[in-house]
Amino acid sequence: MGFDAMSISRLTRRDWLKQGAAALGMVGIAPSLVRAAIETPPEWEPQSDRKIRIGVVGGGFGLSFHWHEHPNCEVTAVSDLLPQRREMLQNRYGCDKAYDSLEELVHDPDLDAVAVFTPVPDHARHTILCMEHGKHVIAACPACITLEEAAQLKEVKERTGLKYMNAETSYYHPETIAMRQLVRDGVLGEILYSEGEYYHPGIGRTTDSLSWGYGMPNSDDRTWRYGFPPMLYPTHSTAFIVGVTGERLAKVSCIGTTDPDEPALKDNDYDNPFLSGMAMFETDRGHPSRMNVSWHIHAHGERAQWFGTKGALYSPTWTGQPFILSVQGQSNVTERPWFWETLPPDMRYDSGHNGSHPHISHEFVMALVEEREPAIDLYESLAFCVPGIVAHDSALQGGARLDVPCFDVT
Ligand SMILES: NC(=O)c1ccc[n+]([C@@H]2O[C@H](COP(=O)([O-])OP(=O)(O)OC[C@H]3O[C@@H](n4cnc5c(N)ncnc54)[C@H](O)[C@@H]3O)[C@@H](O)[C@H]2O)c1
Repeated sequence: MGFDAMSISRLTRRDWLKQGAAALGMVGIAPSLVRAAIETPPEWEPQSDRKIRIGVVGGGFGLSFHWHEHPNCEVTAVSDLLPQRREMLQNRYGCDKAYDSLEELVHDPDLDAVAVFTPVPDHARHTILCMEHGKHVIAACPACITLEEAAQLKEVKERTGLKYMNAETSYYHPETIAMRQLVRDGVLGEILYSEGEYYHPGIGRTTDSLSWGYGMPNSDDRTWRYGFPPMLYPTHSTAFIVGVTGERLAKVSCIGTTDPDEPALKDNDYDNPFLSGMAMFETDRGHPSRMNVSWHIHAHGERAQWFGTKGALYSPTWTGQPFILSVQGQSNVTERPWFWETLPPDMRYDSGHNGSHPHISHEFVMALVEEREPAIDLYESLAFCVPGIVAHDSALQGGARLDVPCFDVT
């Protein structure tokens, strides 16, 4: 198997007590071990001539992936409800075949897989439809927005045996990849506390262009983002801990904040009164983890900081805090690693969200080529989003501490 970041995380979860404890027992951390832990794994090399035939649905965010640049993939069909977006998808991916809807595309016998980049409330339904038609799925985050949908996704995945991956960008930020390696090697000691955040001022408000007509000017129809509950979109934050240590977020107390003058909080489809959710989780290993999502504080972007007993790592911020890896007794490392060499050559560039899009595209294609589960499989994807569903409930109950159900394989 080539470089697979999740295999590191899975190894950590399974073998944590055995390997992590051994690493923690070391006296001091050598500078070479700190360096080695954030070094780029071996360079990618072609392994197969097989081409995965993918259909891409959703010509907004769905335009920003690298299927056509991967030597083991070709875009066989595209779809969007809007003709302009269908055309944009065809141009972007050099694809002749276009369908008017996902519901038509799923019948195409030439497709191995479908990339679902449709509105959030449709993710579970669209994923299930694709799997019921025998297609593997990669879908935008979050996997779902209700516990019932989480159970349905688990059922269809386990019944069909098809592969599912969530295109969660925070999982492939360079510092998240580095953290998986640092955790694997025990360099930071035990990760006792973590903070993750996703801040995107304006989302869901009546004054935000994304609330109207799929970003098309002069359209008066609401999009799914109008009044969308922040904690139903938790994955950019939660992936920073779940996708690094393999822990599950087991309990939560969440405080929601609101704006009494915001019309979108009075008549949205979700009965949502919040513009922010600030959630305090406890993991299944008893570690506190503070995860925020906000549409209305003066802050921007997705980032995390992780605190271990022997070191800490800080993601850069939009205000200028640099990447810092601080390890007891060692000089700080401030050079951010990018891990480009793990990708096919044509994909080694940053197309958004801290260089995560090529890694996501590559991992899904290689999982299908190698006939293995992708790094962010369905269980991981549900472990990213289910805690937010419960956190939203907690906020509605004034911060009540609630248990988070686990949808892992039993
Ligand atoms: N960092 C990230 O991971 C990130 C960033 C942006 C968006 N996203 C996610 O990507 C997804 C898409 O976001 P967006 O901004 O492009 O949303 P959007 O609402 O602008 O676009 C969704 C598109 O899906 C199309 N669509 C809906 N139903 C369809 C159907 N049945 N058949 C064919 N096409 C259909 C719509 O016409 C629309 O063009 C969302 O889930 C969003 O949360 C993730």
